[in-house]
Amino acid sequence: MTEQITAKIEAAIADAESRLANAADAEVIEQVRIDIFGRQGLFQALGKEMKNVAPEDRPVVGKAFNVGKNKLQAMLDKANDELKAASDAATADSIDLTLPGRRAKVGRKHPVTKVTDDCVAIFRRMGFIVATGPVIETVYHNFDALNTPDDHPSRDVGDTFYFSDGRLLRTQTSPVQIRVMESQEPPVRIVAPGRCFRRDTPDATHSMNFHQIEGLYIDKDVSMADLKSILRTFARELFGGKVDIRLRPHFFPFTEPSVEFDFSCIICEGKGCGVCKHSGWLEIAGAGMVDPNVLKNVGYDPEIWSGFAFGMGIERIAMIRHRINDIRLLYENDVRFLEQF
Ligand code: PHE
Repeated sequence: MTEQITAKIEAAIADAESRLANAADAEVIEQVRIDIFGRQGLFQALGKEMKNVAPEDRPVVGKAFNVGKNKLQAMLDKANDELKAASDAATADSIDLTLPGRRAKVGRKHPVTKVTDDCVAIFRRMGFIVATGPVIETVYHNFDALNTPDDHPSRDVGDTFYFSDGRLLRTQTSPVQIRVMESQEPPVRIVAPGRCFRRDTPDATHSMNFHQIEGLYIDKDVSMADLKSILRTFARELFGGKVDIRLRPHFFPFTEPSVEFDFSCIICEGKGCGVCKHSGWLEIAGAGMVDPNVLKNVGYDPEIWSGFAFGMGIERIAMIRHRINDIRLLYENDVRFLEQF
């Protein structure tokens, strides 16, 4: 019995030696391992035979068993190591370490996202919180509640995208004002950035799909002076301390009085250049004191509460900031353009 087992182990070693000597690939080595250590392999079978070995012979046979096992394992390890070293050497030969490396492309924020984030951060520092509303709006929120007359041109199907159920793609972020006031009691201090849609013919300054950031501040005794001071602080935070602001009378259905807000041109510092069309001023925002009718529509008492609202175009700010002369560049997603920011 003892001789039989040791003979089998020696035979297995000899067999493995010759098979591994010619082993050119991992499959051959794996097959040898399975034959020796696998579940149907040599040592599994020998383990069973050990029961028949006389007790006094067991130490000798056991030793041969373990020595053989270790030896075979070492042979397999060596064969695997050699195979790996050979394939590493082959790979190294095919790599030219003198070639210049390939630069990994790093993603970054789109300029529209960046401007949005920057504007939101400035208003947050002044105590505004961010509000959002749906892009598909009701006529009520986009127009009626905002005191827009039935015959106002912006309601026209030529200007606004309507769905067959009567809803529409919001033309401005102002409906978020209504949604916020409907859902909470005053005071209110929010900004609402978001996507808007108008049926414009695309050109260098128009897009059917653009972004605005809306602001709404409702409290007791809010005045035009507060509006002016908030927007001047915003202008200087965004474009630097030298920027001045100016208000021009305007009309919006939902504010009274209404103004358009200009920033002094950041490029020529007010002297006049191509970007500001030689006026020294850049038109940035529409704003005004919230019309009492709007407050009534949401159930706020205009005798107690007053406030201001403003809305500005994000793309316009991005274009001024980066001297981009065509709004379409912002949507074409040409990496050569986007990687400049
Ligand atoms: N919603 C106006 C627009 O899109 C801008 C605006 C917002 C004006 C808030 C006044 C107050 O032109």
